[in-house]
Amino acid sequence: MAFIRGLSLLLIIAIIFFDNFGNVEGRYHFHKKQKKSSNIGSPVSGSPAYSPDPEDPSPPSDPPPYVPSDPPSVPSDPYPTNPRNTSSDCVFDVTSFGAVGDGEADDTAAFRAAWKAACAVESGVVLAPADYCFKITSTIFSGPCKPGLAFQVDGTLMPPDGPDWWPKADSRKQWLVFYKLDQMTFNGTGIIEGNGQQWWELPCKPHRGPNGSTLRGPCDSPALIRFFMSSNLVVNGLRIQNSPQFHMKFDGCEGVLIDNLSISSPKLSPNTDGIHIENTKLVGIYNSMIGNGDDCISIGPGCANVDIEGVTCGPSHGISIGSLGVHNSQACVSNITVRNAIIKESDNGVRIKTWQGGMGSVTGVSFENIQMENVRNCINIDQYYCMSKGCQNQTSAVYVTDIYYRNIKGTYDVRNPPIHFACSDSVACTNITLSEVELLPQEGELMDDPFCWNAYGIQETLTIPPINCLQDGEPHNIVESSEFGC
Ligand SMILES: *[C@@H]1O[C@H](CO)[C@@H](O)[C@H](O)[C@H]1NC(C)=O
Ligand SMILES: *[C@@H]1O[C@H](CO)[C@@H](O)[C@H](O)[C@H]1NC(C)=O
Ligand SMILES: *[C@@H]1O[C@H](CO)[C@@H](O)[C@H](O)[C@H]1NC(C)=O
Ligand SMILES: *[C@@H]1O[C@H](CO)[C@@H](O)[C@H](O)[C@H]1NC(C)=O
Ligand SMILES: *[C@@H]1O[C@H](CO)[C@@H](O)[C@H](O)[C@H]1NC(C)=O
Ligand SMILES: *[C@@H]1O[C@H](CO)[C@@H](O)[C@H](O)[C@H]1NC(C)=O
Ligand SMILES: *[C@@H]1O[C@H](CO)[C@@H](O)[C@H](O)[C@H]1NC(C)=O
Repeated sequence: MAFIRGLSLLLIIAIIFFDNFGNVEGRYHFHKKQKKSSNIGSPVSGSPAYSPDPEDPSPPSDPPPYVPSDPPSVPSDPYPTNPRNTSSDCVFDVTSFGAVGDGEADDTAAFRAAWKAACAVESGVVLAPADYCFKITSTIFSGPCKPGLAFQVDGTLMPPDGPDWWPKADSRKQWLVFYKLDQMTFNGTGIIEGNGQQWWELPCKPHRGPNGSTLRGPCDSPALIRFFMSSNLVVNGLRIQNSPQFHMKFDGCEGVLIDNLSISSPKLSPNTDGIHIENTKLVGIYNSMIGNGDDCISIGPGCANVDIEGVTCGPSHGISIGSLGVHNSQACVSNITVRNAIIKESDNGVRIKTWQGGMGSVTGVSFENIQMENVRNCINIDQYYCMSKGCQNQTSAVYVTDIYYRNIKGTYDVRNPPIHFACSDSVACTNITLSEVELLPQEGELMDDPFCWNAYGIQETLTIPPINCLQDGEPHNIVESSEFGC
């Protein structure tokens, strides 16, 4: 009930404040050249001035204030869009807006026009229909929009093929961006094809330079799909593949439901994290298959209340919390649950990684019912995370506490110990609980030397391999989590 009430309240607010009849124009005159405007709901293509840059969190300038205007007269055009007409009138098929969908033509203008139209009606659907392959350039699909908006891809949607074809004026950090939206769905039975191959092979990528070197230089590659400063999002059904960099990224969002996704890129594609969240709260990730060249799911600073269930990862670098505390920053992560997952052929299983010198805390994390298949570093806390070799030890650290591992079974790759708790010298990890942890080598000798450093906790059942290094009780200099400012 509260939800329904909230919804109608939102709707009223949306109607009062955000009803922008200027959008109608784009709908009736889609074939005309798009005007460059920053109207509500206008997608912005490429222009760096509007790019919500991860390094520069200042948002694009606010839309112009609402100016009341008369409703448009009944249209006599082939695209009836009266919002109070039958439901099918809320579907804005991009082909009706001039999209060609032959995999060659630039369909950006058609997607922008369809978005503008769908954004202006309640429960509008931007439809990229099946059996077409649409190509669009980097675009910010921004709100606010009327509630219930869906972006449904049943065909294939892809960016230009690699850096040589990327328009010079477009951001190289992101491709599809959804910005300032509430109650939006991104779904469909189609494919988001990232065309990542040529990005992975840039000579600035690890060991892709001449003779296996790594060349210096800016190496930006676009995240495929980014949700920024949005709420109550649903993403489902899609297959998302071959991203130049992260496949999906959420930041500054609240209320995210991800279900039934398939994400895939090759094992050796650099930095192709599956789903990355940061500064994002109330997230559910369910029933999805993720195989890629980096973290399957990564949880950055500022995340809380995250529930992950029914996810299969592999090949991948596992499910990671972190890295946290880079450049002495503060990171707060709490209440994260990962259940009923399979992690296979991966460089890590479940991992918490923090840099020396950070602040903040990771509290209330539980990993339950996780099946490992040939995984290196199945269970890992690393408070000495470092991208180069030259990181100094520092006295401050992100405090890690209340971490629960239950029913984690399967096989590990013997190149690394299956359990590794490397906690900070100055700030111990506390209240680590292990229960029904049984890990055996995929092949080769049993490794019976799990590593712990300054790690406190208990084993509820006998752990395989046995652990003797987990310390009982609490460290002398026990810290209050409030001291870490979370
Ligand atoms: C819906 O739109 C169609 C086409 O514009 C129109 O003929 C029909 O009368 C409209 N129906 C209602 C209920 O407004
Ligand atoms: C996508 O979401 C919209 C809005 O919730 C819904 O109407 C549509 O049926 C969904 N399509 C698919 C293929 O799930
Ligand atoms: C998951 O998505 C696929 C592809 O869109 C669809 O065919 C399938 O029915 C979905 N499964 C469930 C359980 O919703
Ligand atoms: C690559 O290595 C080969 C053999 O060591 C050498 O002859 C060649 O100059 C190297 N190329 C570059 C670009 O460094
Ligand atoms: C933990 O997160 C879940 C959602 O994943 C939420 O339902 C629950 O209320 C949260 N618990 C606390 C104590 O905030
Ligand atoms: C940092 O501390 C750890 C644990 O005490 C130690 O093993 C490591 O050698 C130290 N590293 C440096 C660079 O001092
Ligand atoms: C230890 O962590 C568990 C969750 O794993 C939590 O339920 C319990 O309250 C914590 N114990 C203390 C003493 O904080």
